[in-house]
Amino acid sequence: MPYAHITGWGMAAPEGVMTNDDLAKIVDTNDQWIRERTGISERRIAGATDFTSTLAVEASIKALKVANVRPTDIDLIICSTSTPEYMFPATACLIQDQLGATKAGAFDLLAACTGFIYALNMGAQAIRSGSIKTALIIGSETLSRFVNWKDRNTCILFGDGAGAFVLQASERPGGVLSAVMHSDGSGGDLLTLPAGGSRFPATESTVHEGLHCIRMDGKEVFRFATRVMASATLEALDAAGLKVEDIKWIVPHQANIRIIEAAARGLKLPMERFVVNLDRYGNTSTASIPIAMVEAIEKGQIKEGEKLVMVGFGAGLTWGALAAEWTGPLPSKGHVRPEQYRRLGRVRSLVRRAIRFIEGLLYRREL
Ligand code: COA
Repeated sequence: MPYAHITGWGMAAPEGVMTNDDLAKIVDTNDQWIRERTGISERRIAGATDFTSTLAVEASIKALKVANVRPTDIDLIICSTSTPEYMFPATACLIQDQLGATKAGAFDLLAACTGFIYALNMGAQAIRSGSIKTALIIGSETLSRFVNWKDRNTCILFGDGAGAFVLQASERPGGVLSAVMHSDGSGGDLLTLPAGGSRFPATESTVHEGLHCIRMDGKEVFRFATRVMASATLEALDAAGLKVEDIKWIVPHQANIRIIEAAARGLKLPMERFVVNLDRYGNTSTASIPIAMVEAIEKGQIKEGEKLVMVGFGAGLTWGALAAEWTGPLPSKGHVRPEQYRRLGRVRSLVRRAIRFIEGLLYRREL
């Protein structure tokens, strides 16, 4: 049975930085409160030309470059997001088109902030089963478009960004070792974006009541998060036949430093073993784990051969953890330049649209 290795990684964050002081100009808050209660100092905010798919494509190109994999070699694209560009088509299909990943199946996965763990597990399982060889797993969010900028309980927390991993099959042991996924829909109302779906389609009153923005019971979400982070980590370790002592790093969902500290206490591990970068990005939901991973790898913090656990929680309620052995890129030949495929992909997309248009005209004439 082939192993599923994480062989490429990349991240993207919009250029726009919003500091706590910037926020204090629009809601009744201050830098000290936000830093003490959350650990966040600043977050990135999408500009007019940043979208969930464009951030995802930027992160993906970097990941493909590291793995030395062509977009045309990808079998499957999973985009985990709670902020898709449309109800449909899936954002994963927009990414497929922009990358020119002509062979890939593509779909979105919604498990909120736990989504990247779910998506990575799904991609790894597809590789382990032998049905595919290469998957592109993305977590991408433009949460700032759904934040209520008058609600100080939520607007201080979230930021935008994307992270991507390339998963590849190899006979060499390692890669994704185990994963656990959980949900409890009875807590769905604790963190929600109520309107815009089929239950409450957009109307004048849904817009007027602010139902297209994030709503959250912060205290209850906090309580839930502190309960599940340590237990999910231990479950994933158990499933991989590992003990806490065997792992070098925990890469937690970056929501609140106090939640991460509670997990550290629960696991009896020092904070130095946790990868933390939420001070600079805030909570980027499903993108937070891959962004933290990419920064830690690029800093030389996470090294080849080290074992780690990624652990997350979020709306749904959902939570989960995934244990992996970090192996890095597989040996490969040549030098792939995925950004060229992106340019070619753009041309290919235009040509396909033109062909579809001409075929449409001919078809109408035949009728
Ligand atoms: N600035 C200043 N004061 C604020 C504030 C802000 N941004 N937000 C709330 N306050 C005030 C409250 O009104 C309250 O004042 P009061 O005591 O006079 O009523 C006080 O600060 C304490 O509020 P509380 O809600 O108890 O703060 P908290 O310590 O629970 O922190 C959160 C609030 C939202 C930071 C925290 O509950 C949290 O992080 N929850 C989890 C959220 C999360 O992770 N969501 C994403 C899941 S993926």
